[in-house]
Amino acid sequence: MDVNGTPAAGVTQGATDPATRGAAHRSPFLWGVGTSAHQVEGGNDRNDWWDWEQRPGAIHGGDRSGAACRHYERYAEDLDLVRGLALNAYRFSVEWSRLEPEPGRYDDAALAHYRAVAEACRARGIAPMVTLHHFTIPRWFAAKGGWERRENLPHFIRFVRWVGAGLGDRVDHWITVNEPEVLGFYGYASGIWPPGVSDRSRALVVIANLLEAHALASHALRETDRVDADGDGRATIIGAAKHWVHLDPRRAWHPLDWLAASVQHRVFNVAVARALAGGPIELSIPGARTVRRRVDALAGSSDFLGVNFYTRWMVSLFGKDPRSARRGAPVNDLGWEIQPEGLGRALEACRAFELPMIVTESGIADAADRWRPDFIRRSLEAIDRARADGADVRGYYHWSLLDNFEWADGYQGRFGLYAVDFEDPMLPRRARPSAGVYAAEVARRR
Ligand code: FCB
Repeated sequence: MDVNGTPAAGVTQGATDPATRGAAHRSPFLWGVGTSAHQVEGGNDRNDWWDWEQRPGAIHGGDRSGAACRHYERYAEDLDLVRGLALNAYRFSVEWSRLEPEPGRYDDAALAHYRAVAEACRARGIAPMVTLHHFTIPRWFAAKGGWERRENLPHFIRFVRWVGAGLGDRVDHWITVNEPEVLGFYGYASGIWPPGVSDRSRALVVIANLLEAHALASHALRETDRVDADGDGRATIIGAAKHWVHLDPRRAWHPLDWLAASVQHRVFNVAVARALAGGPIELSIPGARTVRRRVDALAGSSDFLGVNFYTRWMVSLFGKDPRSARRGAPVNDLGWEIQPEGLGRALEACRAFELPMIVTESGIADAADRWRPDFIRRSLEAIDRARADGADVRGYYHWSLLDNFEWADGYQGRFGLYAVDFEDPMLPRRARPSAGVYAAEVARRR
């Protein structure tokens, strides 16, 4: 298929059309699970993360993504698990480095694979939600300077057009970019992710470029995906997934802790969400060059705000641990405070951006499944309360279906409803008790 390929004929209705706005209200609530390509597929050896993993000390325990869960081969069985929980939604990402292994060389076989995944979802009554960029970039794109160079954005947009045309008749729900703020700060400020840069000014540039990429990708999808796959009157329902984290002062009475927490909150949470909701890009933190940019394409680019929620951090201006879990709080296997009711507070805060909301991720690293059942119950109660209070929440995707490669934490963060044997990822997945809990909680709400 040609890059600007024309999709099959179908219903042509953009989300900005007032006649169809709000149509998603009539769609069923999306109960799903999420994954991302590099974390589960295995064998993604043409992207920046693969290269990063080879560096000694980059990943906890020297882990490498390697074969991961072999989800690339096992997707059909994995979707049977989703179906077995009676869920109606699955979020996954397409791997850009498979689809465009060299600049301008698009791989039809890889596209056919993702079409098959989307079709396998539909065959099971599951709505696919496709993420176009979930942290990884092709090696060639990294070599060109990746997201730091604004002039690189057209490469991504051409790729998005091709995917929109190629999958649009099966897919209505799209996530353009996942967590621009996390990628910006981990890759370019703390430097614990590729490309390992420690320069806050560069981090802000990257975040701004990713926000602009979201806007342009959204318009590209509206042009190339004109087919309403599920008959709800809308061909595209588009958002970005924003990582919302509570940043509270470690010592509430201390003006400097308070200041540090509020500065971080303003840039990490508020500024990003505001841009996604169509506002200006305005990113500013002490010690870094402020980035201000008006991107007209941001207006109307988001049909919903994707909210990824996990935890809260206590922030301090001084000390060697500027972000830590609340002292004495229960923590998950990665040391993150377990605070599911924080999801309610996150949704309350996100209402300010006046977009429908979908919880695109929420979960817990808990190999023993000690905390997860209660975490799920309390998270869903928080959603119930928010909705009863009038919040427009349209879906919840638990992170994750499977244990997977948890970025710099390697395989020590076990987020799966299903455990995976990484010695032999072809062995059957093993359901944790919380898989049944989630299914029962969803069934109760139908
Ligand atoms: C989010 C990422 C996701 C996963 C979870 C635990 O920040 O989007 O890929 O790693 O955290």
